[in-house]
Amino acid sequence: MGKQRVLSGIQSSGKLTLGNYIGAMKNYVALQHEHDCFYMIADLHAITVPQEPAALREQSESVAALFVAAGLDPTQAAIFLQSHVSAHAELSWLMTTMTYMGELERMTQFKDKSEGKEAVGAGLFLYPSLMAADILLYNANLVPVGDDQKQHLELTRDLAGRFNYRYGETLVVPEPFIPKVGARIMSLDDASKKMSKSNPNVGSFISLLDSPDEIRKKISRAKTDLGREIVFDVPNKPEISNLMTIYAQCSGQTLEQVQAAYEGQGYGAFKKDLAEVVVQALEPLQQKYADVRSSGEIHQILRDGAERASAVAETTLNSVKEAMGFVAKSR
Ligand code: TYM
Repeated sequence: MGKQRVLSGIQSSGKLTLGNYIGAMKNYVALQHEHDCFYMIADLHAITVPQEPAALREQSESVAALFVAAGLDPTQAAIFLQSHVSAHAELSWLMTTMTYMGELERMTQFKDKSEGKEAVGAGLFLYPSLMAADILLYNANLVPVGDDQKQHLELTRDLAGRFNYRYGETLVVPEPFIPKVGARIMSLDDASKKMSKSNPNVGSFISLLDSPDEIRKKISRAKTDLGREIVFDVPNKPEISNLMTIYAQCSGQTLEQVQAAYEGQGYGAFKKDLAEVVVQALEPLQQKYADVRSSGEIHQILRDGAERASAVAETTLNSVKEAMGFVAKSR
């Protein structure tokens, strides 16, 4: 694989979880040295549900610092806030005009988030058109995401193809880049639901900033299946399979190695070790996070990132507008 353009993003709508880390951030880090990477804090996506201004500001800076703490090198990858690059909002409108209502109505994330709500913001409905704009602005070939973003990626691919068919070859059709193990980390209290920061039960997810004791407590209380064997068998042992996935991803072992290591042992011993594996994986990240926050360096990182991102995004936006027939500003 030659040098590829990579774009991805995480919403700044709450604490990041171990699911975000395993499903997405680990791959951001893995891709940064060989490819041309743009990683964004999706603050415009965050406001598709109501946010307190002070909380939004804090969470956006926190996610940016977590990117660096997780191992992203700002001299390699551009790290920026979506709202700092105005081309995102502008291309989003252009993409919205090319998106069918039926396509948006079929999005499972929209159905989940709007279900049972009396008032649903239009932004939540249009969210996938903004996400398509995010990706297409950078001519991204690869988009590292967890499994839950696959449907949004499909729509992005359709929109790029539709645009090129209507207006001539302009946009790159992107590919999702999804981890083979850990693409969907499940809730600790119910392995039929994905681990999510918006779950009101805080015991259901591990936040990247949870203290070692919180992590130990949450893992010791995590649901397990009937029986006592540590075997990877998603249909029959969904809870243990999820915990094994977390173990494998945090320790760098394969699922087979984890299974072999715990043959003949019970859930208690396994969970105890798992807690330590997670604590150890997060310790350096948490240390680095504290350093990054206290140094204040994040502001400069975001300024540089936005500058690099804007240069690419503006160029694409101009080609799109020209292809669609907008009159260019005269000089
Ligand atoms: P968000 O903020 O919900 O999640 C960020 C990333 O984390 C992954 N993820 C998970 N992976 C495995 N297991 C889980 N339990 C889990 N929970 C979350 C998500 O798949 C995602 O990769 N719409 C996006 C943000 C976005 C974006 C983009 C992504 C905006 N523009 C452009 C890629 C490209 C979202 O809400 O992700």
